[in-house]
Amino acid sequence: MKTRITELFGIEHPIIQGGMHYVGFAEMAAAVSEAGGLGIITGLTQRTPELLAKEIARCREMTKKPFGVNLTFLPSVNTPDYPGYIKAIIEGGVKAVETAGNNPQKYLPALKEAGVKVIHKCTSVRHSLKAEAIGCDAVSVDGFECGGHPGEDDVPNFILLPRAAEELKIPFVASGGMADGRSLVAALSLGADGMNMGTRFIATKEAPVHQNVKDAIVAASELDTRLVMRPLRNTERVLKNAAVDRLLQKERELGASIKFEDIAAEVAGVYPRIMKEGEMDLGAWSCGMVAGLIKDVPTVKELIDRIMAEAHAIIHERLAKL
Ligand SMILES: Cc1cc2nc3c(=O)[nH]c(=O)nc-3n(C[C@H](O)[C@H](O)[C@H](O)COP(=O)(O)O)c2cc1C
Repeated sequence: MKTRITELFGIEHPIIQGGMHYVGFAEMAAAVSEAGGLGIITGLTQRTPELLAKEIARCREMTKKPFGVNLTFLPSVNTPDYPGYIKAIIEGGVKAVETAGNNPQKYLPALKEAGVKVIHKCTSVRHSLKAEAIGCDAVSVDGFECGGHPGEDDVPNFILLPRAAEELKIPFVASGGMADGRSLVAALSLGADGMNMGTRFIATKEAPVHQNVKDAIVAASELDTRLVMRPLRNTERVLKNAAVDRLLQKERELGASIKFEDIAAEVAGVYPRIMKEGEMDLGAWSCGMVAGLIKDVPTVKELIDRIMAEAHAIIHERLAKL
């Protein structure tokens, strides 16, 4: 299956693994790239640019195929050394970057000069158009269903994707709620050139996270996610657990006067112990509604091969015969 996305990134299948904090290590990215998709290392999970350089080198030992790095520009107390991370990406010979959060414009000239293709993750048509205008090569359009930060507009992908297709000239992938061959064909028919998955890739054999995380995703239904931090305009879709119940209770009690400090215990620095140690109730962690469609823990190759086989069957058998 050739699309503008497979051509842009030099990959076999139009499937991208979105950057995921404490999941997107070399093992995850290499498994996706080896299976013919585009694997992504999460830049900021590496605490310094030097550590990112080592992670890129480690990934290069595991795969000769193209992989990318995610750089997330989110409001944070101590601004990370973004120029240092950009340098590590360029010097590491990485040719694909997934940016997310704030506008990446400042860093585009350096990336472009080094021949790096940039796909910016956006949760609205207006941000997607902005990404196109500043020179991004592609957009990952992230609907309201998505795990992580869906923005504040709450437009689900059945509306957001065709709206993006109406407006954008550059290629885009559908992100949020994507799980299988049905998702891929639907994304293509709504105008996307491929799909980006987060939550689905966590429930795979190679995902370098504790088995408890994979079990929690398989056990969850589409009703089990919650939106937190909406009063702070930093909305995040997470899996419901004891910490999330506590956090939402504080949001109800404190109302508009709530500050980040009030909920820091439930959200700040909780990922390592959740993802590595499997302490599932320790804090809030991103998870998509798509958990309701995830029922097994295959290898990444089994997952991607199954998606492509299912997509071909839908297109050439079911749809062709209607
Ligand atoms: C555990 C987890 C951590 C994530 N961390 C990041 C991150 O650090 N930066 C980022 O841009 N997106 C992050 N995301 C969002 C994903 O890259 C992707 O856009 C999203 O998961 C797509 O929705 P889905 O989960 O329905 O597939 C994260 C998602 C999950 C589930």
